[in-house]
Amino acid sequence: MSTAIETMMEEHQYILHALKIVRKMCKTILDNGTLITEDFFKFIDFVRNFADKYHHGKEEAILFNVMEKDLGATVKEGPIRGMLVEHDLGRLYMSRLEEALHKFNSGEEEAKLDIIANTISYTHLLNHHINTEDNTLYPFASRELKPETMAKMEEEVLKLEEDENNQMVKEKYINLIKELEKKYN
Ligand SMILES: [Fe+2]
Ligand SMILES: [Fe+2]
Repeated sequence: MSTAIETMMEEHQYILHALKIVRKMCKTILDNGTLITEDFFKFIDFVRNFADKYHHGKEEAILFNVMEKDLGATVKEGPIRGMLVEHDLGRLYMSRLEEALHKFNSGEEEAKLDIIANTISYTHLLNHHINTEDNTLYPFASRELKPETMAKMEEEVLKLEEDENNQMVKEKYINLIKELEKKYN
């Protein structure tokens, strides 16, 4: 497996870990009614900037792009489109979660239901999505992409990994999840 794909699989591990923590945050609401909206806003920040911008951004701009070019319309209209639809659905859950948090903050107690529903829906979606990528899409790309495409992709991903700004983003969000983990363990 290429280092570019390995990097993306490693990012999946951070996302999966965050999904576990946010599930615990939802369970805390059920167990004792405690809901700290600030922590859910932190999770949205993680999703938007790490899971989506940093990780899905890499998939969309690099991997899916080269798969379309190398492997043609069937792959573009089939598996790639499926992945893009799921990325979009994740964004929708996050907007709805954000909306529900604002409603709760302005006194709508019932918005708790939408906070839990959208958060848990997001975790189900992403668990499924990552499982598909790790076990089907990434291995398929590793098998089918031309060696020269693979080499170019490695180069592009490496450049992103070496970028100081990106390293700071990654560190920031890994720490954010660690902080939530301590609180909700
Ligand atoms: Fe993805
Ligand atoms: Fe992914």
